[in-house]
Amino acid sequence: MNIVILAAGMGKRMRSDLPKVLHTLAGKPLLAHVLERARELGPTRIITVYGHGGQAVPDAIHDPAVIWALQSPQRGTGHAVMQAAPHLDDNVPTLILYGDVPLTRTATLRHLVEIAQDGALALLTVTLPDPSGYGRIVRDGDRIVRIVEHKDADAATLAIREVNTGIMVVPTVALKRWLAGLSDDNAQGEYYLTDVIAAAVRDGVPVVGAQPEAVWETLGVNSRSQLAELERIHQRTLADALMEEGVALADPARLDIRGSLACGRDVFIDVGCVFEGEVRLGDRVRIGAHCVIRQAEIGADTEILPFTHIDEAQVGSAARIGPYARLRPGTILGEHTHVGNFVEMKNTQMAAGSKANHLAYVGDATVGERVNIGAGTITCNYDGVNKHRTIIEDDAFIGSDTQLVAPVRVGRGATLGAGTTLTRDAPADKLTVSRARQVTVEAWRRPVKKKV
Ligand code: UD1
Ligand code: CA
Repeated sequence: MNIVILAAGMGKRMRSDLPKVLHTLAGKPLLAHVLERARELGPTRIITVYGHGGQAVPDAIHDPAVIWALQSPQRGTGHAVMQAAPHLDDNVPTLILYGDVPLTRTATLRHLVEIAQDGALALLTVTLPDPSGYGRIVRDGDRIVRIVEHKDADAATLAIREVNTGIMVVPTVALKRWLAGLSDDNAQGEYYLTDVIAAAVRDGVPVVGAQPEAVWETLGVNSRSQLAELERIHQRTLADALMEEGVALADPARLDIRGSLACGRDVFIDVGCVFEGEVRLGDRVRIGAHCVIRQAEIGADTEILPFTHIDEAQVGSAARIGPYARLRPGTILGEHTHVGNFVEMKNTQMAAGSKANHLAYVGDATVGERVNIGAGTITCNYDGVNKHRTIIEDDAFIGSDTQLVAPVRVGRGATLGAGTTLTRDAPADKLTVSRARQVTVEAWRRPVKKKV
């Protein structure tokens, strides 16, 4: 089939400089959601009609498989499809989607395509308690005979609660003919795509209707509040799927997944967590409250304590990270590692059993096994121009408040005294300390206030 996605509309009620279809749901532009659904159907071609926002839309989506058709000015949904018409393959039917309706299930679309086989026009409709604003589905008995837009409807038609979602499958050769016959003689002075329904009826083409499982599948975004509503619906669907797979969620209403989250068995996720990109959690992983985890893999039995931020990092099994830890890109932690509060790690590989429990910056470092990094330790990895590595070998002990001025190496089993500023390599198994020797001044007396 051909798929045409209408995305030229303005979205005035968003009150935004960003074109509506580029506003994000689950971290992804609305239009990207629709394109993803479209691709799942394996279409012959995808044509997206853009207009408002101009080149910004194709530039942001940047998909070489999409044909872009410009609609300028925007003179209605029928006029939008006219812009796509030259790109349509006549041998297959055409599915029309809206770029601002992001949550239609693929199964619903497949069903619509199925019932349109043999050249019928298939229309996705829903029945709403409040149909205001929508095009009404006018039936004669069971048969759909036309769609009347809200602004063109008389009182009797306004009472109809079955409405047009805008999603339809149309035989392509006939579609081109019907588009050529559209007129803008209506309340809005627009070319209505919906007028093709009456044209199909006139030509004796069967018009069939189908309904989605859930009304939210057909909801569009016209305002920020509708966008937020769809976001919660989408997140609840993702949360339900996780619970179905056996994940324990402290509260399915307080979870945000902006990408994909794969979980092992008996994973627990506390409230307020955000997962971005691709995240994988091993068996029995526990995620504390208010963690942000992006593009990461967490090994089995690891506990991530509250308020931890992980970005492009890997954590081994049975580790304990946080509270308030920050793992930045390139960080790879082995099993049984501990990273505690206010510890920032970047591009650091730390092997099994090593710990940095409090207040440290460890960047561009290679840390061996069973190393203890004391509170206040800083790798001075940046000389103002270049970054340098710090190497800490197995079983080293880094005393508190130590600066490791890279490039520098701490040998296996070495101990650095607290307060050391290490500028040269520290030999294995020895104590290295750099600080002024402690003195006590015996004769010193604390000054006292002079009497006047
Ligand atoms: C349209 C339908 C209406 C249906 C409703 C569902 C028509 C005439 N009416 O209403 O029956 O109940 O959708 O939401 O089709 N667009 C363009 N170019 C344009 C105009 C619109 O690309 O010139 C796109 C919009 O970006 C949007 C979609 O078409 O994705 C629908 O436009 P919108 O203005 O929201 O729909 P209505 O015309 O109000
Ligand atoms: Ca709309």
